[in-house]
Amino acid sequence: MKQAIAAALLVLAISAGFVLWIAGYMAPRAEFVPYVEPPQAVESDYLRAVYSPLHFRPAIDTASDEQCLACHREVIENKVRTVSPAGQKSELMRAWYQQTPTYEGGQDTFHRRHLATPLAKQLMNLRCNTCHLGHEPREEAQGAAADSARQDDTAFTLRKQVNSETSCLKCHGQLPWQLMGLPGPWEEHKTTFGNNCQTCHAAIRTKRHEVSYLNAAAIEQAGKNGADACYGCHGGRAWYRIAYPYARTPWPDMPAEVPAWAKDRPTRSDARFFAGARP
Ligand code: HEC
Ligand code: HEC
Ligand code: HEC
Ligand code: HEC
Ligand code: HEC
Repeated sequence: MKQAIAAALLVLAISAGFVLWIAGYMAPRAEFVPYVEPPQAVESDYLRAVYSPLHFRPAIDTASDEQCLACHREVIENKVRTVSPAGQKSELMRAWYQQTPTYEGGQDTFHRRHLATPLAKQLMNLRCNTCHLGHEPREEAQGAAADSARQDDTAFTLRKQVNSETSCLKCHGQLPWQLMGLPGPWEEHKTTFGNNCQTCHAAIRTKRHEVSYLNAAAIEQAGKNGADACYGCHGGRAWYRIAYPYARTPWPDMPAEVPAWAKDRPTRSDARFFAGARP
């Protein structure tokens, strides 16, 4: 009997202990902070921004960088991590396209490399609308809706906001050494020409870079002492296997005969960027 009572008391004590233990956990705590939803921007403001006339033609053609940056500050301000999640320091990392001798500084974002780095500011004068010509945020394919680009619109690059063949290729194509009469690729033969494009280009195709998005005088200055700056935009940072078919601007003492490869070339830069004197 005594034993049975002792066992019952023990069971009771243990159960009571459990109840107190659980109750202790369920009781409200001093440090508990209830979650409150932060105030949200109204959804219609977001859509209004997405359909801002500035994203479309004709407004985008005349938009200033400041107008775009009013909403897209991240494009210029965001920088890459200084150390990758795997512990690599960004300033020590180099990709194959960053081996050009003009490359400076640590890793940076695509936009900053074209708008904010010292080299970009020295040689170029790119604007948002040099590359961005407007895009349809809903339909990203031609002919998908009555109001989207026409099916046969070849200026349109599927699901891309920028047409790379009419922008990137101009500075990231190959050096067309074959039509220049060079014996082979520049890297293999540059010493023959003193690693200087001016060996020939002081007299050939001398009217160049007369476009609003390049700093022509600064480019010539950078090319005086060597080919590295020139080659940087003409083969040294090539993303393509092809070269851009540049306009062949007439230059003083130009031979009257037009080579076969140049037959269909325009003789003036793209009207959108033309910054030279009108012929
Ligand atoms: C009123 C604010 C506002 C202005 C001004 C503005 N944008 Fe935008 N833009 C937005 C919003 C919002 C989006 C949608 C972002 C998203 O959904 O991730 C967007 C999207 C974009 C996208 C597509 C991004 C993607 O990943 O789909 C590009 C490119 C872009 N804008 C470029 C520009 C350019 C160039 C200008 C100036 C001509 C400009 N924007 C002006 C607010 C703006
Ligand atoms: C050298 C050409 C170039 C210039 C100059 C340029 N962009 Fe872009 N931008 C691009 C390309 C290419 C993309 C990627 C497009 C895609 O994914 O289809 C892009 C993407 C974007 C996006 C989408 C989000 C992102 O960061 O990927 C926004 C927003 C944008 N650009 C805004 C701007 C603004 C604002 C400016 C001017 C301050 C500008 N861009 C200047 C080429 C350019
Ligand atoms: C007007 C000439 C020009 C145009 C157009 C241009 N680039 Fe560049 N790009 C450069 C120069 C110059 C650099 C080197 C900048 C530097 O070293 O700071 C560069 C660097 C780059 C880099 C290397 C960035 C890094 O982190 O090192 C990438 C990627 C790139 N360009 C892609 C593109 C793409 C994609 C386009 C088209 C949307 C484009 N570029 C259009 C001149 C141009
Ligand atoms: C051996 C002489 C020579 C050297 C060295 C030389 N070029 Fe050329 N380059 C030419 C000739 C010739 C042409 C074609 C001229 C014509 O239009 O009839 C040409 C044309 C070009 C074109 C226009 C191509 C086109 O499709 O319209 C570019 C761009 C160019 N050269 C850049 C360079 C750069 C950059 C360097 C230095 C890295 C360089 N060249 C070195 C002789 C040379
Ligand atoms: C920042 C990039 C960049 C640099 C640096 C650069 N170029 Fe160019 N080059 C271009 C672009 C873009 C065009 C096409 C411009 C146009 O549409 O008229 C071009 C066009 C040319 C042409 C054809 C000109 C014509 O209208 O017939 C020649 C030749 C040329 N470059 C040679 C050179 C030489 C030589 C150097 C160095 C002194 C050099 N480039 C440096 C981007 C560059």
